Amino acid sequence: MPGITRRQFTQSALGLAAATAIPGGVHAAAGDRLVARPGTARLAPAAYPETRIWGYDGTVPGPMVRARQGDRLARQFVNELPQPSSVHWHGIRIANAMDGVAGMTQDAVAPGAEFLYDFVLPDAGTYWYHPHNRTWEQMARGLYGALIVDEAGGAPEVDRDEVLLIDDWRLTDDAQIAPGFGAMHDWAHAGRLGNWITVNGNGAWSQKVQRFARLRLRLVNTANARVFTLETRGLDGWLVALDGMPLDRPEPLARLTLAPAQRADLIVDVVADEGAEAFLVSFERDGGYAIAAFPVEDSARQAALPAPAPLPPNPVPALGPLAQARRATLLMEGGAMGSMRGAMMNGRQMEMRDLAAAGKVWAFNGMADMGDTPLIEAQRGETIVLALTNDTAWPHAMHLHGHHFRQVAADGTMGPLRDTLLMNRGETAEIAFLADNPGDWLLHCHMLEHSAGGMMTWLRVA
Ligand code: C2O
Ligand code: CU
Repeated sequence: MPGITRRQFTQSALGLAAATAIPGGVHAAAGDRLVARPGTARLAPAAYPETRIWGYDGTVPGPMVRARQGDRLARQFVNELPQPSSVHWHGIRIANAMDGVAGMTQDAVAPGAEFLYDFVLPDAGTYWYHPHNRTWEQMARGLYGALIVDEAGGAPEVDRDEVLLIDDWRLTDDAQIAPGFGAMHDWAHAGRLGNWITVNGNGAWSQKVQRFARLRLRLVNTANARVFTLETRGLDGWLVALDGMPLDRPEPLARLTLAPAQRADLIVDVVADEGAEAFLVSFERDGGYAIAAFPVEDSARQAALPAPAPLPPNPVPALGPLAQARRATLLMEGGAMGSMRGAMMNGRQMEMRDLAAAGKVWAFNGMADMGDTPLIEAQRGETIVLALTNDTAWPHAMHLHGHHFRQVAADGTMGPLRDTLLMNRGETAEIAFLADNPGDWLLHCHMLEHSAGGMMTWLRVA
């Protein structure tokens, strides 16, 4: 496997020993309290100090929250951070009051205060949770965890079910979280990109496996802004779900692009030889890095299992006829090397320079702040078609709250259900969804510096 090495600090002044394997960072569920608080984590190798983080229950990732489809989930959120916070349950078609958007569906939870989240889980699959207040800072400090919903009719049989939360940290030479959260350069460019990649809070995540074992790998991109390009080595199989939602048919595994907040469920068989290692590889500008390793000990069986059946579909209601759909457009503008000259803010037109001084460098439909009127006001049960144009020089990961959508191709074919869509520079896309979940819902870029810098709007379902 030439060219694939363990990820190392790219700019470190300290001599760095080879990364050492540390046991996995997935923790058991911790009762019904979820406490956001400062803690420490061994993100970097042993030669470095531990990193001071903010984490749910003080850990990175936070405790895995796991429940069965159709169940009610309750967590008493306790804020022991020095900042107000909230919890958003990303990708869950949730009751609006439980969506966790500070300033919209609830007030931010003050330091020392608590909030009870209590909601039903309609869909099985791979989801996650994270703050929705000063998200660009709070997630970069380590606040996130997996939310796994098991299929009501029983999960497909596999030998191992592994959640891999993939993060991109910006660390200093002594392995501490780099300051500079509000840096306008990051906000106007690609967002806060990091220099240290972890899986489950571990720079050298590793799990022993058996040859021909069948694994379900649940990949989650928890980075502020990095788009991951992933491949497997020594693991052959299928892509079976995106953003929690099962594909109609498993697709043979190929190179996978995972934008911030996106998830992919894989079902793979270990085909690397006994004594060898299989890998999850991230391709970056300067080559491929093994971000997760699977040393192969012995064999589970004589040969790989036959292809898996599709996962059972989730009860997402079908779209109505698109010809009768309510239509809207969203023009995405701004950022460095863009053509935006100004935008509306606080109800008045402002020039780029003044916008930037106020921390806004992007706009949706000419508005750099959210405004009082929604992008779309839908009747409950209406089908919506939204045409998006990325008129910027940057990729964006567009996330809709409370609903999953399908991309409509130019020839009318429908893509898989998703909650986050990657749009590259200059790209246009049409998405369609059934507005069946009443309330006010955000639509924003999940590159967190972009949403804070103006790429955020909302819609109302009556
Ligand atoms: Cu995962 Cu509005 O966010
Ligand atoms: Cu963006």
